[in-house]
Amino acid sequence: MITDASTKPSNKVRNKASNNNNLHTKIIDCIHEFGAQQSPICAYIYDLKALEERIKTITRCLPDRTHLFYAIKANAEPEILSTLADHVDGFEAASGGELNWLQTHQPNNPIIFGGPGKLIEDLHQAIHQQIDTIHVESLVELSRIQTLSQSLQLPVRIFLRMNIHIGDIGSSKLVMGGKPTPFGLDETSLKQALDIIDSSPLIQLCGFHFHLMSHQLSVERHLLLIQRYIDMVKKWQHDYSSLPSSLTINVGGGIGIHYDHNPQHFDWQKFCQQLSIILKANPEFNLRFEIGRFITAPCGYYVMEVLDIKQNLGETFVIGHGGTHHFRTPAAQQHNHPFFIVPRSTIKTIETEHQESLTNKAAITNTNATIVGQLCTPKDVLAQNQWIEELRIGDCLVFTLAGAYAWNISHQNFLMHQPPKMIFL
Ligand SMILES: Cc1ncc(COP(=O)(O)O)c(C=O)c1O
Repeated sequence: MITDASTKPSNKVRNKASNNNNLHTKIIDCIHEFGAQQSPICAYIYDLKALEERIKTITRCLPDRTHLFYAIKANAEPEILSTLADHVDGFEAASGGELNWLQTHQPNNPIIFGGPGKLIEDLHQAIHQQIDTIHVESLVELSRIQTLSQSLQLPVRIFLRMNIHIGDIGSSKLVMGGKPTPFGLDETSLKQALDIIDSSPLIQLCGFHFHLMSHQLSVERHLLLIQRYIDMVKKWQHDYSSLPSSLTINVGGGIGIHYDHNPQHFDWQKFCQQLSIILKANPEFNLRFEIGRFITAPCGYYVMEVLDIKQNLGETFVIGHGGTHHFRTPAAQQHNHPFFIVPRSTIKTIETEHQESLTNKAAITNTNATIVGQLCTPKDVLAQNQWIEELRIGDCLVFTLAGAYAWNISHQNFLMHQPPKMIFL
């Protein structure tokens, strides 16, 4: 934990992202301080204060009869979880590992448990520990839950995860439903599922679960999707008399982040205002969200110091200290990740004379360059053909929006490079 910035040189930031400068003053101060301790720099910096402000803003907008869970698959660092804990209604786990992690780090908060291919031992643990709810992915899983609840003689609260057609609502970049996928049950299995539930006094059906897409950037489409979920559940209530009249619908996560220099992401406030109208028109339903990316992405920064700059067959490459083995987000999303530059001249470091002479030599100005990492693969690209006003060896590249699906989705052991430092502000 770094708390006290001893040197505060000017926060001059160069490249096309420089208009973000004053948004990231705290991060730049941290790099200045950290640069005096580690060279070359390679770190994740998490702004926990900003995260807390963000989650407060998100929950403040939520209409009545909605509950927000944090999907820890986005980022399960204990500091992140404890920052969120007082502001969310609980946490979503999607594996036995995440279930254990939550039981270690957040033992007093409600847990909901989803994900395909749950192990019998994970289901056993979830039932034994009487977690809030299990999201059932298939008829086989439902039968396993039935057997386990009987043998343990313990009640289980479940949601049925459903996959449905969404007509012409339109998809986002990554879909988990609305077309054939391994996720959830489809309508043709619903009768059989309800028969199993009806014959199992220990199983309580609390509602339905839908998570049909990630990277949703359109408020209108997301509202249409939620309206569609409500309409489907109403239809099922009409078709199956065993379904309770009042149910909770878990509408999943999937709220998107603009991975470009656009600071205006999904308009959450507008979404919540319109959602409250939908909820007023459907008083028999409560909603749950299990959101990951939208909550934590903006609080994280991945910082790589520039190790080398070179020309190769007419193109310019900038090699940073780190790469996609730490920060797979750009490779996973196949996008150019936004970044800004903190110049070496503003960072007080412990660099050697050798490094200093290199620093003075290699610089690029007003040119396009591709930002890569240290891996022996041409796929280790963080941003391609980026316009650079000025950059030299020793400067820091600061990738923003790195707080979700970043370090934890990366192939960290490849090539046995050192891990990044983790700094929690
Ligand atoms: C079932 C389920 N719920 C919630 C999430 C969280 O999604 P996001 O981080 O996009 O909000 C995911 C992500 O894949 C998911 O599969």
